[in-house]
Amino acid sequence: MTDTSTPEAPLNITDGTPLDFLASRRSVLASRMEEPGPSQQQLDQMLEIAVRVPDHGRMTPWVLQIVSPAAQIELGELFVEEFRKIEPDAKDERVDLERVRPQRSPVLVVVSSRTVPDRDGVPPVEQLLSAGNVCFNLLHAATAMGFAAQWVTNWPSYNDRIKASLGIPTSEHLVGFIHIGTPKGPPSERQRPVMAEVVETIDSLKPVS
Ligand SMILES: Cc1cc2nc3c(=O)[nH]c(=O)nc-3n(C[C@H](O)[C@H](O)[C@H](O)COP(=O)(O)O)c2cc1C
Repeated sequence: MTDTSTPEAPLNITDGTPLDFLASRRSVLASRMEEPGPSQQQLDQMLEIAVRVPDHGRMTPWVLQIVSPAAQIELGELFVEEFRKIEPDAKDERVDLERVRPQRSPVLVVVSSRTVPDRDGVPPVEQLLSAGNVCFNLLHAATAMGFAAQWVTNWPSYNDRIKASLGIPTSEHLVGFIHIGTPKGPPSERQRPVMAEVVETIDSLKPVS
């Protein structure tokens, strides 16, 4: 892997062309966000852009939930309750990290799947991919509006009681917690893939039985 770190690069990605934007978009850690978050009007616009995703069979197989500040606090308490089951011996400081996890950004959006069994050749995996697209498109929309955004899952996404508290059925996926806020500072770049390692050209097929 090539280290392409440019830690001093500013978050001015809204200044260039759409191609510049796509070539330079970065996530900002939720812990590096602060107020203000987007206004209601900006958030509405972001969400509308977020759902403009490929969706085979027009199934709309996802739901977006804006978690209010009060509900973020409640969610943090539930994180603590569940985390204590996973790590009963965790120190208070570690437990407190879980408590504040949902409150690290001014705005928290939960994206979850609402899939149906294979219908007209659209299997659940494709519906799930569409939900993933919603998460990424929300990052794009937030970033394009000058906000910081990060997609996180971590253990709470896979916890059935946490999902239930948000009304997400056990059979569905909590695809992402999307944090949105103002960046405290410019995000650092991370290593990007070496293209030769991830791109292949197929000139002839492998023999198949
Ligand atoms: C499905 C998914 C879940 C993720 N969950 C986490 C997470 O729980 N914690 C975390 O620090 N980063 C998580 N990430 C990674 C960040 O969202 C992000 O990709 C990373 O910080 C680098 O971002 P960038 O390539 O957009 O700059 C997750 C990414 C994906 C796609």
